[in-house]
Amino acid sequence: MGIVVISMASLLFSSYTSTAASSPYTTATFSVVLFLILSFYLLNTLLKISLKSQKRPRRLPPGPAPWPIIGNLPKMLMSRPTFRWLHAVLEEMGTNIGCVRIGSVHLIPVTCPKIGLEFLKEQDATFASRPKTMASSIFSRNYLTVVFPPNGEQWRKMRKVMKSEILSPTRHKWMHDKRTEEADNLVKYVYHQSLNGSVDIRSATRHYAANVIRKMVFNKRHFGQATHDGSPTAAEEEHVAAIFLSLKYLYSFCISDYYPFLEGLDLDGHKKYVKEAYTMTNKYHDPIIDERIRQWQQDDGHKEPQDLLDVMISLKDSNGRTLLSSEEIKAQTAELMLAAMDNPSNAIEWAMGEMINQPELLKKAVEELDRVVGRERLVQESDLPQLNFVKACAREAFRLHPIAPFTPPHVAIVVRKRVI
Ligand code: HEM
Repeated sequence: MGIVVISMASLLFSSYTSTAASSPYTTATFSVVLFLILSFYLLNTLLKISLKSQKRPRRLPPGPAPWPIIGNLPKMLMSRPTFRWLHAVLEEMGTNIGCVRIGSVHLIPVTCPKIGLEFLKEQDATFASRPKTMASSIFSRNYLTVVFPPNGEQWRKMRKVMKSEILSPTRHKWMHDKRTEEADNLVKYVYHQSLNGSVDIRSATRHYAANVIRKMVFNKRHFGQATHDGSPTAAEEEHVAAIFLSLKYLYSFCISDYYPFLEGLDLDGHKKYVKEAYTMTNKYHDPIIDERIRQWQQDDGHKEPQDLLDVMISLKDSNGRTLLSSEEIKAQTAELMLAAMDNPSNAIEWAMGEMINQPELLKKAVEELDRVVGRERLVQESDLPQLNFVKACAREAFRLHPIAPFTPPHVAIVVRKRVI
C-alpha cells in the first residue's frame, strides 16, 4: 500500500511540474508543498478507510458476544445439548440467522426455511462443502463417501455414483419388491407386538428402516438367526444401536473439531464412542462385502446385480476398470445404512405421534385407507397417489417436526470479505 501511495503522488507531481510557472525556486517550493498536501491527503484518506473498515463490524449475523481468541467456546461447553442452546440463543435474540464463534470459525445457524433455501439452493455453489470432523472422518474412512467429504474430486465421484446408480428413479423402481417384502414383514411384526397390548413405535420404525436398507443393499434382512414373530435378532439390535450411536456423535459439538491438536486427548470422550460404533457397524458389513467381492472376482463379472452391493461392485470406469475400491464400497455402504435408517424412522415416529395425539386425524386416515384400499388386501406403494389425506398427514408432520435439530453442516467454499 505504501508503494502505491508514493507512486500515485509522484505521478501527480510530475504531471503538474511540466506545466508550472518558470521560477525554479517558486516551482520547487510549490512542488514540495503540493507533494506534502497530496501525500497528507492520500495518507489521511487511506487511514480513514482503514480505521472505518476496522471499526465497522463485518456484516455477520447477530450472536452472543464472543471472548477474545476462544469466542463462544466456554458457553458452548457448558450448554449441552449444543443444538438446543443454539436454537434458544436465536430465539432470545429474535433472529432466524445467527453467528457463533469458536476459535477462528464462524458458525452460522439458520432456523428459517426461506434463508435455508437461499444457502442450500440459490447459493449452493458457494456453500456446497462440508467441514472435516473427527467423527465424519472415521465413519467415512477418511472421506470416501458422498455425505461427509469436503467439496472435491472424491465427493464428485461418489455423488455421480449415488445420483445415477443408487438413488435414481430407475433403481428405486428396480427395488420395489424388496421394499414390499419388508412392508409385509413390518405388518407381521406390529401385529405380533399388538397382541402383547402395545407397540413400541420407535423400535418398530427403526428396525423396519434397517430391514429395508439391509434388504436393498445386501439382499437379506437378517443378521443372525431369524425370529418366529419377525422381531429383530440380537445381532440386528446391535447393528441398529451402533448406527444410532454413530448418529449421536456425527456433527455433534466436539471440541477437537475446532482445535485439532486436542484430538489425541479425546477430552469429551467422543472418539471412543465413534470408534466403538464404527467397529460394531462394520463387523456386520465388511465380511459380507469381502465375500461378495470375492464371488464377483471368481465369476469374472458374468452375473446380473441382485442388490445395491452388486451394483457398487460391478460399476466400471470409462477404461473398463472397477470403479469403486473395496474401501469405498464399505464406507458408502455404512453411510447408506445411516442415511436410510435415521431420517425415515424419525419422520414416521413424529407422524405417528401426532396422529395418536389427534385421534380424529387417525380415524380419517383409516377411513381413507378403507375406502381406497379396502380391507381385503394390504396397502401397496401404487395406492399412494390416491391416498391424499394420508399424504397430507405425512407432509404436515414434516412441516411441524424437522427430522433433525439441524441438517448436516455446510461450509463455504469461497470465503469473501464479508461472507463466511
Ligand atoms: C424421510 C426420509 C428422508 C429425509 C427427510 C431425508 C433428508 C435428508 C437431508 C435433510 C439431507 C441433507 C441435505 C443437506 O443439507 O446436505 C439428506 C441427505 C442425504 N440423504 Fe436423505 N433423507 C431421507 C431418506 C433417505 C434415504 C432413504 C436415503 C438412502 C437410501 C437417503 C440418502 C441420502 C444421501 C445419500 C444424502 C447425501 C446427499 C449429498 O450430500 O449430496 N436419504 N437427506
